[in-house]
Amino acid sequence: MREPIGIMGAGWVGLVTAACYADLGHDVIVRDVEAMRIADLEAGRVPIHEPGLGELLDRNRDRLRFTTRAADVFHRAQIVFVCVGTPPTYSGDADLSAVWQVVNELPDTTKRFVLVMKSTVPPGTGERVRAWLDGHGLSNVGYVSNPEFLAEGTAIANFMRPDRIVVGSFRSEEGDRIAVLHEELGAPVVRTDVTSAEMIKYASNAFLATKISFINEIANVCEEVGADVSLVADGMGLDQRIGPHFLRPGVGYGGSCFPKDVSALKQLAGNSGYHFQLLTSVIEVNELQKRRVVGKLRRHLGSLRERTVVLLGLAFKPDTNDVREASSLVLASRLLAEGAHVRAWDPVAIEAARPLLPGVQLCEDLLEAVSGADAAVIVTEWNELKALPRPEVRAAMRRPLIVDGRNFLDPDTVRQAGFTYEGIGRQPSPVEERPAPQPLELSEALAPSLADVPAR
Ligand SMILES: NC(=O)c1ccc[n+]([C@@H]2O[C@H](COP(=O)([O-])OP(=O)(O)OC[C@H]3O[C@@H](n4cnc5c(N)ncnc54)[C@H](O)[C@@H]3O)[C@@H](O)[C@H]2O)c1
Repeated sequence: MREPIGIMGAGWVGLVTAACYADLGHDVIVRDVEAMRIADLEAGRVPIHEPGLGELLDRNRDRLRFTTRAADVFHRAQIVFVCVGTPPTYSGDADLSAVWQVVNELPDTTKRFVLVMKSTVPPGTGERVRAWLDGHGLSNVGYVSNPEFLAEGTAIANFMRPDRIVVGSFRSEEGDRIAVLHEELGAPVVRTDVTSAEMIKYASNAFLATKISFINEIANVCEEVGADVSLVADGMGLDQRIGPHFLRPGVGYGGSCFPKDVSALKQLAGNSGYHFQLLTSVIEVNELQKRRVVGKLRRHLGSLRERTVVLLGLAFKPDTNDVREASSLVLASRLLAEGAHVRAWDPVAIEAARPLLPGVQLCEDLLEAVSGADAAVIVTEWNELKALPRPEVRAAMRRPLIVDGRNFLDPDTVRQAGFTYEGIGRQPSPVEERPAPQPLELSEALAPSLADVPAR
């Protein structure tokens, strides 16, 4: 029998979870505190960019309801997934206020519920919620930790074909109910206590972030000793003990999860009396990595004052419009501080980024963005950028310098197309003579090339 399912929070995790359970045949009711978000969903508009999500919501419209009222969810569903945000506080700890809001909204009845925590919460949170429930006479409310491992951009596939399902419970029958829900997905189910389940999520994200910072440092050393990090990563990744994933160097990790989860685990360890030295370095390496592009630009352009630099990609990764903690934000403000004129292009994240990028000229058209630029920096590996090294782009740029912050393009192809190419951990192009920057009106820069602008 399909159980009716409740979802608290209509963000990436909540909406993907809702759409996927509805697709598996469950009736699902989704609650968010943002009335506008709920109105959009009711009208068939999807408030986030996640490939396939719109179609899945649409296809399962009959099994999905949206509401702003917690009571509607508790009235209809007995299994309620908590998918609210747990952003960082100023201290680096996780802000659990939205989680506690949900707990506080539980109705004072004897109806049996299971509250399933999908939000990423610090180890020990479930124990505290359980104690609170028992202290308020709500032993009828079960609690299960079922951390979410989806990645934005591939979230639906990640839900439908997960590597594993983690179910941490206080009472085994509550864990059984959640394990059964996932049976048809055919993934291994890891049954644990609640605190271990919470720790699996933090440890997984911290490990992936560590892998990224590690390969970024290897890339930086490659630049010093004349090695090519792409070849190094390929050679490492074939070792089954290492594996090929998360060995792509770049301009640092961002997004709504890695930075906050790594920081929250570090703080949690510190609050418990343990100094997590490795994570301190992982965070520092990542911060420095986001700025290394500035050094590469200076190598070719000298002072960046009055230079025009275009950031290609604002989202923290392709196939999402999420700009939370994106490397583009750090780079943009660094470049502005250097006195550069900063432009930015992204196929879907312009509106999400707009309030965060005062002083940056945002362009929806790629050719408009690069026109008159002294350098183009690939920050997000959008597929559209595969075609960047083409004659119109070269002709439109004042100086054909591409800094590939994701090692997305083939250096030889780019150089053959007449560009100067710099990647991360790859051998740089020789520095050409630097022309003094000439003040250039945008309209003047665009004039010869706009006719060629291709439709996206
Ligand atoms: N985004 C990811 O890739 C990802 C992956 C795995 C885990 N997670 C974790 O899942 C959680 C949710 O992440 P997200 O990216 O979906 O967040 P999000 O910010 O996109 O969405 C959270 C939603 O919860 C809503 N909300 C806040 N308080 C609420 C309440 N009391 N009741 C109902 N809704 C409420 C917000 O309005 C918002 O729409 C976080 O803990 C995150 O760390 C996220």
